[in-house]
Amino acid sequence: MPSTTNPREAAEFIRSRFGEPISTAVVLGSGLGAFADEIEGAFRIPYEEIPGFARSTVEGHAGQLVLGHIGGVNVAVQQGRFHFYEGYEMGQVIFPTRTFACLGAKNLILTNAAGSLNTDMKPGSLMVITDHLNCMGVSPLRGKNDDSFGPRFPDMTRVYDREFQEFAEEEAAAIARSGADFYLGRGVYCALSGPTYETPAEIRMYRLLGADAVGMSTVPEAIAARHAGLRVLGISCITNLGAGLSGEIIDHSEVMETGEKVKGVFKELLKRVISRIGS
Ligand code: HPA
Repeated sequence: MPSTTNPREAAEFIRSRFGEPISTAVVLGSGLGAFADEIEGAFRIPYEEIPGFARSTVEGHAGQLVLGHIGGVNVAVQQGRFHFYEGYEMGQVIFPTRTFACLGAKNLILTNAAGSLNTDMKPGSLMVITDHLNCMGVSPLRGKNDDSFGPRFPDMTRVYDREFQEFAEEEAAAIARSGADFYLGRGVYCALSGPTYETPAEIRMYRLLGADAVGMSTVPEAIAARHAGLRVLGISCITNLGAGLSGEIIDHSEVMETGEKVKGVFKELLKRVISRIGS
């Protein structure tokens, strides 16, 4: 059932438990939850305690909000997200995003696991999202507009903040100079409703449409965040090549394993970018 709770109530509840203002919110994708261990003074709230929050049912998603500090910046980190393919209504998928807006967050960093459509971007690479294709078949803003969040017809020309993209690229270059071996690409993320992985024919189609990576998340939250005026950064962890591009089949355990392998670099990049964005 869709929640009838207002995200303002969720924000009020979170404030009653963690009184500090939040400047940046982060959503951790499949296999990337380990970043939450980096939070100083971590205060954890399981989703089931937060009014209006659904629960995450996917392996690799812990299902809690972690509040605290990264390099002096107050953060709220979603360790586990709600996916459309789990059967949630879009309103539930973007409920945490709107809660972050109600908490006063100005910035949102969205991360995910994704399949690459570009053979230069191999598993273990990271990708800065420059734009997206919403191929989920529905907008999370469908329905009566809540004018207190944003306008009926929000602009989507620059969903992913250019300055934040530069921060991510510069910090990735600094990490690479310090000896870490990884590749950070840039590209268009195509969101699909899932839960099936794609067929090789679909992958060829999304490639023709201009996608560089495919996944099953991120775009609803990015749209809701822009609607509410948050600045957005998106980073994909490339866990596999798209169906038919490698001769192998795609397996969720491979997605999780790749997340595990890039965890060190990924954590470092997020920490640096959060500090760079500042308060
Ligand atoms: N397709 C869709 N979603 C994904 C993939 C993929 O290949 N890899 C990780 N998430």
